[in-house]
Amino acid sequence: MPVIDIKNLKKYYKVHQKEPGLSGSIKSLFSRKYYDVKAVDGVSFDIGEGELVGFIGPNGAGKTTTLKVLSGLLYPTSGHVSVLGYTPWDRKPAFQKQFSLVMGQKNQLWWDLPAIESFILNKEIYEVPDAQYKKTLDELVELLDVADILKVQVRKLSLGQRMKMELIAALIHSPKILFLDEPTIGLDVVMQKKMRDFIKEYNQRFNSTIILTSHYMDDVKELCQRVIIIDKGKLIFDGALDEIVKKYANHKLLTVVFDKKVDQDKLSEIGQVKEFNFPKAVISVKRTAASMAAAELLQHFPVADLNIEEPQIEDIIREVFTGADVA
Ligand SMILES: Nc1ncnc2c1ncn2[C@@H]1O[C@H](COP(=O)(O)OP(=O)(O)O)[C@@H](O)[C@H]1O
Ligand SMILES: [Mg+2]
Repeated sequence: MPVIDIKNLKKYYKVHQKEPGLSGSIKSLFSRKYYDVKAVDGVSFDIGEGELVGFIGPNGAGKTTTLKVLSGLLYPTSGHVSVLGYTPWDRKPAFQKQFSLVMGQKNQLWWDLPAIESFILNKEIYEVPDAQYKKTLDELVELLDVADILKVQVRKLSLGQRMKMELIAALIHSPKILFLDEPTIGLDVVMQKKMRDFIKEYNQRFNSTIILTSHYMDDVKELCQRVIIIDKGKLIFDGALDEIVKKYANHKLLTVVFDKKVDQDKLSEIGQVKEFNFPKAVISVKRTAASMAAAELLQHFPVADLNIEEPQIEDIIREVFTGADVA
């Protein structure tokens, strides 16, 4: 039984169309014109208990809108959604107690108070029993290594410290389902890694179901076996990360290191030269022609080292979105 089940979900925003200039503003007072922004346009997927799924797509693809519908913050235009058997926008208290939505760009903590005060507030809101609260808090504080800053005013914390506190606030009621919307946005590389480690550990330790959106592919690569990709409100891929490579990448990359100078024009006969910086060159060749191209390089060029690689997943995904051929 899937814990999250979405069938043909659509969310269209009605947007007021204003004509430019003052006369436009006056006109629009009398006759308002609307048009639809199809933020989510017929998306279906289901997610099983304990899965940690990457939900990716370019800006404006409809990720946040989907997560807001799943959290009951927005009514969909149409479609079926079931989360733990509940319809999210009914906002039943029993449902509210079992999920959490964390948005990297929004904070729910009280700015002028120490984070611990917000935790206590959430404990009350979610009616977490004292003993469970203490146990959960201790565990999260230890996992995130924040014992010494619990009593510091939130406004005085760094962005990374604050995100850790946001996570604790969101997890204090031990939700079964977690929606993480860009939780690592703006964090430095070290802090991103710490967040990632935490998400992984949390998922494994509590078997919680997590949907993670991120535009850092490292997050997705390290955490998610399964990715769902949407673009312009439509689902374009749902499967294992390495399936993306198989499905979309019809090229391979030859990375060559030369002993001596070579002629770039001659190199172009092998394939598309992506990078040429003596002694190193990167050449993109058709997947099926990769071994031929490698043989040719070895035969006709002063090769010191040669590697055949898959293109970077980031590049593949970018090309999928722009509709270009993956090279
Ligand atoms: N409240 C809103 N009113 C009108 N359009 C919106 C609103 N929120 C989002 N949109 C539009 O819906 C589309 C999807 O947005 P969003 O779900 O935020 O995408 P993502 O999170 O993937 O970047 C975008 O075109 C965005 O401009
Ligand atoms: Mg978003």
